[in-house]
Amino acid sequence: MSLLLNVDSLRKVYGHAKHEETAILKDVSFSLQRGEIVGLIGASGAGKSTVGRILASLEQQNGGTIWFDGSDLTELTGKRRRAFAKDIQMIFQDPYDSLSGRMCIQDLVEEPLIIQKYEKDSAKRRQLVNEALSLVSLDPKKYGARFPHELSGGERQRVGVARALVCRPKLIICDEPTSMLDTSLRLELIGLLKKLNEQFGIAYLFITHDIALTKGFCHRLLVLYEGHIVDQGFTETVIEYPEHPFTIKLIEALRSLENTKGESQ
Ligand SMILES: Nc1ncnc2c1ncn2[C@@H]1O[C@H](COP(=O)(O)OP(=O)(O)OP(=O)(O)O)[C@@H](O)[C@H]1O
Ligand SMILES: [Mg+2]
Repeated sequence: MSLLLNVDSLRKVYGHAKHEETAILKDVSFSLQRGEIVGLIGASGAGKSTVGRILASLEQQNGGTIWFDGSDLTELTGKRRRAFAKDIQMIFQDPYDSLSGRMCIQDLVEEPLIIQKYEKDSAKRRQLVNEALSLVSLDPKKYGARFPHELSGGERQRVGVARALVCRPKLIICDEPTSMLDTSLRLELIGLLKKLNEQFGIAYLFITHDIALTKGFCHRLLVLYEGHIVDQGFTETVIEYPEHPFTIKLIEALRSLENTKGESQ
């Protein structure tokens, strides 16, 4: 195993208030190995998406360092930052919201290649798009010219995966990508992510509320609470034998949420 990401004392404050007490992320530190799947759990509003957005360069941190694949991301600017940006991609919760309805599937998957200046030759770009679509089991001939509203929720989420995948990233931040899918589609997406992890060694930071889903998928879990990572360890150990009082509470809360969901289904 070798280190891919090391986040040290990450800090984020929204708005004008820069006081320590109002910081969403106070001192977030964790690391991730190449090809590792790490779950990030925490109560709603704990700052999980904020961590993800900062790592994906969609948001700026207020302090701390992010060491990624040999460089300090927080010190990179311009071309070098963009070059790293392609190695950390993101899959979003809402496949309806995250895809522009005005672009066809082929163009949506090609867009990251153009933005990242990954491939200049348009024929080669098309080939990469077709490969990415095939990897997520969407036949390019059948789906390429369609628009997002002509796809099912599960298919749309797979387009999101293809977009994240097309630049061959080293890390994908998955921000609750399964929460809007029903149980069978959830498992299908997890199966797809597992396959891509095994095939390409892509690491994931998998943000979720669904602890059942993390079992057998995430190698390790991180618990975010009040701006800190308060607990971490192998998934089964954290879930079955939570030690930290915050983890015990959180696991209980997530379990009761799951039970309520189960009863209402
Ligand atoms: N752009 C913003 N401006 C101000 N406050 C923000 C902004 N984005 C997020 N916040 C606040 O930061 C906190 C953390 O938000 P974040 O979205 O990271 O939480 P989360 O852990 O992902 O929650 P959830 O599980 O509900 O998705 C919340 O209190 C939120 O209201
Ligand atoms: Mg969130």
